[in-house]
Amino acid sequence: MTLSDLLIRNARILLPEGEFTQGDVLIQQGKISEIASTIEAEAAEIDATNLTLLPGVIDPQVHFREPGLEYKEDLFTASCACARGGVTSFLEMPNTRPLTTTQATLDDKLQRAAQKCLVNYGFFIGATAENSPDLLEANPTCGIKVFMGSMHGALLVSTEAELEPIFAKGTRLIAVHAEDRARIEERRSQFSGQTNPAVHSQIQDNQAALNATQLALKLSKKYQRRLHILHLSTAEEAELLRVDKPSWVTAEVTPQHLLLNVAAYETIGTLAQMNPPLRTERDNEVLWQALLDGVIDFIATDHAPHTLEEKGKDYPNTPSGMPGVETSLPLMLTQAMQGQCTVVQVSNWMSAAVAKAYKIPNKGLIKPGYDADLILVDLENYRPVLREELQTKCGWSPFEGWSLTGWPQYTIVGGQVAWEKGRLHSEVRGKALSFEA
Ligand code: DOR
Repeated sequence: MTLSDLLIRNARILLPEGEFTQGDVLIQQGKISEIASTIEAEAAEIDATNLTLLPGVIDPQVHFREPGLEYKEDLFTASCACARGGVTSFLEMPNTRPLTTTQATLDDKLQRAAQKCLVNYGFFIGATAENSPDLLEANPTCGIKVFMGSMHGALLVSTEAELEPIFAKGTRLIAVHAEDRARIEERRSQFSGQTNPAVHSQIQDNQAALNATQLALKLSKKYQRRLHILHLSTAEEAELLRVDKPSWVTAEVTPQHLLLNVAAYETIGTLAQMNPPLRTERDNEVLWQALLDGVIDFIATDHAPHTLEEKGKDYPNTPSGMPGVETSLPLMLTQAMQGQCTVVQVSNWMSAAVAKAYKIPNKGLIKPGYDADLILVDLENYRPVLREELQTKCGWSPFEGWSLTGWPQYTIVGGQVAWEKGRLHSEVRGKALSFEA
């Protein structure tokens, strides 16, 4: 496909220094070529009056279900949801069927994504107790995913004896879902027979998360191994990292762990069930402060769709997880517009800091030479999250009815308009992300 040049006119542009300027941005061959107060060029034009131009969101933790679980979501529907939500790149998790634990299963996902994805894509390789050679050699991958607590077949690596060789060998990033399996199992039997989904947060309690984060941190320090802690959910973990976070460790938080808590079980029941579970209002507050202080580095959604039918069963027969890619940016920008943080911070947490942590070249900033993964957001109007407008195949959101601002009016992927004022350009395709060593 030949890429035509694109000229974004009269936008409020977020510059890499964290300041805004009013002006034009020229995109040539899929890259940002010029930023100036006015640009004259032969190019298709977008009138960005009253819109803010931000780098596209890079969502570093999603579950897009293909292959094997396409009845919940697939790479096409998920990437349509990304385009609507301003997510121009994603990093996807290995708990598909088959599990992504070998070069062949990684290659299969890359091929599927090349055919189906409207946005850019990268994939984790999953650790099992036995696939050490794959973890060392598979390429390209953003890192190794270790499920310390959640059960996804062979992807459970929960004991120190199993974890230690993974930390000891190789250098690539290890991303951990940190929950203590043994503690969860013990508590599950204590709470057996209870069908109120609120017990989910008691079974998989703060201590279970803390135990696993402590173990991952201990091994990371022993081998000075690059560690990323996925979806940090408790005050205790944030307080631990505040006093003990080596320079090679990063952490993320989800919008739902910042904005929802155990009160959500009363309003949305099992739709609030996820792993690690929602916590208390105090956890929300401590996580926010850790994010504002730089103890937590960035935001991920953990987009984990399940059908309404699955979610309609009685706890504990309901699956954990909730969708997120098409609401994360408006949720966070709404927080910014309401004074909880700034738009510049949100952009850093959702774009630049992610590109830096995963060493994704030429992404996350609006800068000449960088890839033209860009979003134009409307920070003036509010509109609600409506079920009928959702692009995710699962067709629901825990945030339905929330009135949000910062909805993308345009999502541009490598210079191609993938989302334009409520309309998808479903023929647009993203590219495989690369990761520097
Ligand atoms: O709630 C969750 N659901 N947490 C995870 O880590 C996995 C996910 C899923 O794949 O459904």
